[in-house]
Amino acid sequence: MKPLFRLSIALVVLLTLSSVAWLTMREDRVDFNTQIKPLLNKNCIACHGGVKKASDFSLLFEHEALAKAKSGKHAIVPGNADASELIRRLTLTDPEERMPLEAPPLKKEEIELLRTWINQGADWGKHWAYEPVTKPEVPKIGTFWSRLGVVENDELKWAKNEIDHFVLDKISHEKGLAGSLKPSPEADKITLIRRVSLDLTGLPPTEQDVVDFLNDKSPNAYEKMVDRALANPAYGERWTGMWLDLARYADTKGYEADLSRPMWRYRDWLIKAFNEDKPFDQFTVEQLAGDLLPNRNGEPPTDNQLIATGFHRNTMTNDEGGTQDEEYRVAAVIDRVNTTWDVWQGTTFGCVQCHSHPYDPFTHDEYYKYMAFFNNTRDEDVPSDTPTLRFYKEADSVKVQELHAWVSQRAANPQQTKMADRLTRLTEPKVNSHYFDQYVNASLMGAMYTAIQDKGSARMKDMDLNGKNRLIIAWGTKAEKAVMTVHQDSPDGPVLLQQPVPKTGSPWRDTTLVFALPNVSGRHHLYLTLSNPKSPQDWVMVKWVSLQPALPGQPATILGDMDHKLTEILNAKAELLPVMQENTGDQVRETFVFQRGNWLVKGKKVSADVPKSLPPMDKNLPKNRLGLARWMVNRQNPLTARVAVNRFWEQLFGTGIVETVEDIGTQGIPPTHQELLDWLAAEFMETDHWSVKKLLKKMALSATYRQHSKASPEALAHDPWNKFLMRGPRVRLTAEQVRDQTLAASGLLSKKQFGPSVMPAQPDGIWQSPYSPESWKLSQGEDRYRRALYTYWKRTAPYPSMITFDSPSREFCQLRRLRTNTPLQALVTLNDPVYVEAAQHLADWMRYQGKTPEQQIQAGFQRIMLRPLSKAKLAVLTRLYQTTQRHYQQQPDEARKLLTCSEGTPELAALAVTANAMLNLDEVVTKE
Ligand code: HEC
Ligand code: HEC
Repeated sequence: MKPLFRLSIALVVLLTLSSVAWLTMREDRVDFNTQIKPLLNKNCIACHGGVKKASDFSLLFEHEALAKAKSGKHAIVPGNADASELIRRLTLTDPEERMPLEAPPLKKEEIELLRTWINQGADWGKHWAYEPVTKPEVPKIGTFWSRLGVVENDELKWAKNEIDHFVLDKISHEKGLAGSLKPSPEADKITLIRRVSLDLTGLPPTEQDVVDFLNDKSPNAYEKMVDRALANPAYGERWTGMWLDLARYADTKGYEADLSRPMWRYRDWLIKAFNEDKPFDQFTVEQLAGDLLPNRNGEPPTDNQLIATGFHRNTMTNDEGGTQDEEYRVAAVIDRVNTTWDVWQGTTFGCVQCHSHPYDPFTHDEYYKYMAFFNNTRDEDVPSDTPTLRFYKEADSVKVQELHAWVSQRAANPQQTKMADRLTRLTEPKVNSHYFDQYVNASLMGAMYTAIQDKGSARMKDMDLNGKNRLIIAWGTKAEKAVMTVHQDSPDGPVLLQQPVPKTGSPWRDTTLVFALPNVSGRHHLYLTLSNPKSPQDWVMVKWVSLQPALPGQPATILGDMDHKLTEILNAKAELLPVMQENTGDQVRETFVFQRGNWLVKGKKVSADVPKSLPPMDKNLPKNRLGLARWMVNRQNPLTARVAVNRFWEQLFGTGIVETVEDIGTQGIPPTHQELLDWLAAEFMETDHWSVKKLLKKMALSATYRQHSKASPEALAHDPWNKFLMRGPRVRLTAEQVRDQTLAASGLLSKKQFGPSVMPAQPDGIWQSPYSPESWKLSQGEDRYRRALYTYWKRTAPYPSMITFDSPSREFCQLRRLRTNTPLQALVTLNDPVYVEAAQHLADWMRYQGKTPEQQIQAGFQRIMLRPLSKAKLAVLTRLYQTTQRHYQQQPDEARKLLTCSEGTPELAALAVTANAMLNLDEVVTKE
């Protein structure tokens, strides 16, 4: 062979080899997360996943999928599709054996895809949202020369910040779309200020805001306007409105009679937290575990730290007679677990209560390990909703201070001061009487509290008497001369205490008394026995008892002055706020797996831990709620920041980057701009130290946000849902915004902040709950015109105009409001008493704004929408005015009936109807 020829053969061989290598390298790799997992989730995992493992084969975790199945075969043999039972099963013809069972076969392409994936090595991928957040590079936009400033470039000119880079980058990579969709120009100034104002403060801008913005000709006028909105006290109210859905905040308890439960101090805490831009990590920790936060010098938690924990005391409680307190206590704990995952982790962890997660990598046991963090709180579904933080009236708080001063001067150790503090602020620790047993002539009345009759007794099990010289009892009766005796160890054992029971008028009305006990050491059963010969049928009802050491400086076995002061304090009429408290000592609770989620069927005991598929808790963190909360806001937690950023994004843009804000797991809709989400999440945690205001500002300053919202026919055809963000958001206002805007535009809105919830006008007949003595008492004065978030919220009869505009009833956490547009909404804005009154008020103002109806209507519209009305619309509204005015001229009585606020002329009535129609216009109830 000639050398040249040999060389050319070698070249050919070399070329062939390299092109094969090149080809295989080029071959598209199948991606598990986006191509395989959805296929398995849809077709297989119901039978081969977290719930059922048919034939011992599961596709939930890699190790399970690769293990031998029941037949002894491997369903998946990485690198060898032909040897994989899974592929064989997909291609069989016998429907008894062919997978998926009881369903049509997979498509050819789908089977091919699975085959390729296995041949490529069956790489298992972790779902993107469970991977740590790494900060992506901000994509470059424009051309090389334009970046140097040599030539002009549309993209560079349009973009304002990094968000826009990601958005432009995305569209430029979208096959078939590049070129057909282009960013929209900035909206006009009026549209912008209305959008920013409604988004950031929940209110339309004031006339002055508009003038300031229009007159500001400086280059950063827009930024300054955004800053003013962020600094407006209304900002905190707007974002609290959002958070209340997540916190399932309400003014009532939820079940049956759905009685009142004042939680408004927690609502006010939120408003202040948002306004002072409390960093989101701290905001999180305080709500989940404010009661456990260590303070300087071992000081007890502050009121504000305790108030924050109201978040998880919004769970429903059941006061109905006969219901099991433990069942509903457990239900509340489960709700806390699920809500915590919903709100902060965007994961449907609630599915793991009864079986392992069918789709996401969480096992059944892990649910209960996580529940152990929440299972040790003091609340036990008692009607008093304890533990509650007590807010004393002026005179009583002086007594509390005196007592504290006394104790801290004499305390032998800090523990004594802490105990006195806990007792007076929270009346804890106590033993609720539903734990008593061995009833004789006694009963657990209504399945709530122990009640005893003449010659009756009940046992308090296994009480630690060491150093406890005080027994505190909360009790009541209508009996005249009942006497209670406390025996040690048996119903006729040694007498520790004998006392008359105070008559309170009813067993349900209680008074709290402090008694001295002799020195007894060790743990003992205590028996309460009752002698009540005068009215043997009458019940003495005990709500709770507490064993305490005597206050420092008080005699051990008789009561001293401070004991009397303590009694006064415990009986003072205080306002109560349910808060979180941890069980201590004897009361610490163990946690068990509930088999199939049933609280009555307990499996193995578990201790607190976080799921394995997420980063572990740092060793230095305590294994309690506080440690858990800190784990959630750790930089390593892949979910918290993503979920938060996504939620705030949704609020401004109408749709989340992950549309399913409630689920960023494998069943959620994939993100439209994952890199942008991760970049924002990383910035949020690192650069901006969890500042929500900075996050929102970044979004509001982007060109993406500032675009006008008009959609061209091409844009609608190519991207009907605006997934590529090539136009601004245009969505219906929230229930809160609809109300608040109407009140603001009509001049009725009260600026009063904070305080108990109010009862503005609502249609008659809404509150008709059985067993409830409570009624809707129309608030007076400006309280009728407060912002929506101050409206009293009864879960079983929520405020009608709010639910008509898609607000939830708040029994459970609601992560996303699905927007609807229904005729009912028009019925509300046209007829609801609040809207009718607002229209009249606006009309009353309009009539002084010009001589002709046209001028008056024009002024009204200008006031609502901050811009003039088009000629065509003005003509329609003027016609409405004229026909209505003629109608009222013929029916003057009707005009007087309509108008409650001033003299009922046909002109004013017609103007009110016109204003009413304007407040119901689509553009008015829409943000654009
Ligand atoms: C409706 C329930 C159901 C669905 C859906 C289903 N399977 Fe099955 N699968 C079964 C049952 C039951 C068995 C065991 C009985 C049998 O072997 O036919 C089984 C057996 C298997 C086996 C054999 C395991 C062994 O022991 O060797 C494989 C592999 C398998 N399925 C794969 C799949 C795949 C892949 C899908 C989705 C494309 C799927 N299955 C969907 C119920 C289901
Ligand atoms: C209160 C208990 C409970 C909760 C909470 C629960 N499930 Fe289930 N689920 C069950 C029970 C019971 C079964 C039947 C299991 C069986 O037959 O072995 C089941 C079965 C399933 C199955 C198998 C379906 C089939 O075809 O047999 C899937 C998938 C499933 N659940 C998904 C979910 C999802 C998703 C959630 C959360 C949104 C959820 N489950 C929450 C109790 C629950």
